[in-house]
Amino acid sequence: MTESVLVVVTAVLLLSVSEVITDCPPSSGIYLRHSGNCFFNGSYFTDSSIRSSATSLRLECGLPGETLSTGQWIGPDGEVPCGSGNKHNVQCTTGSGASLSIHINPANGYLGADGDGQYMCCLPTSCSTSGTNIITATIFRYSEIESFAVADLPSDMTVYPQEYKLSCTKIGFPEYGISMSIGATALASYTNCHDINNNNCPGTTDSSAPVDNTFLVQ
Ligand SMILES: *[C@@H]1O[C@H](CO)[C@@H](O)[C@H](O)[C@H]1NC(C)=O
Repeated sequence: MTESVLVVVTAVLLLSVSEVITDCPPSSGIYLRHSGNCFFNGSYFTDSSIRSSATSLRLECGLPGETLSTGQWIGPDGEVPCGSGNKHNVQCTTGSGASLSIHINPANGYLGADGDGQYMCCLPTSCSTSGTNIITATIFRYSEIESFAVADLPSDMTVYPQEYKLSCTKIGFPEYGISMSIGATALASYTNCHDINNNNCPGTTDSSAPVDNTFLVQ
């Protein structure tokens, strides 16, 4: 037997979760700079945002007041070479002082699949040196689910019908499709969505569906 449960599905759309630090670059400490702004440790960047020959669109990691020794950028599949060559089309350039920037040369294509993930910049020495300064950034292809959460759960799980919220936050490429289901039950499904022109894909969607009781205790 199944009970009817109202499920509210909320898809919150964000272009970026990265926040900007006002004092950029800071006078001390390792920083991450892109397009003239500094970003917090662990910020997300799409491959298209660093795919340019413009210097300001390189993702720069710097350490004020230091001299580069053996600093490096390490991606999900190993070190990004600085000077020549690339790793899954990501290449590194040495800047002034202690700074190393990564970018994708459009002539080489796009970020390779194995280059999707977390990057770590270490200055002024290599990442294996203890005491080196580390800052991280995630570089991803297309779009990505940044978070998924269940909210507003009823205090009494045995009372029906009940209502709760599934929140999904997407970041990255503006075009996307989204579908949510519980088992074989579709809650919401949209295709050909666009962050700016998303008439057929509202940022917040509501959907009702019958859900098997057993889902609620899993
Ligand atoms: C940034 O985060 C990484 C991993 O979480 C950590 O090892 C590093 O020390 C952090 N760097 C700064 C400057 O907070």
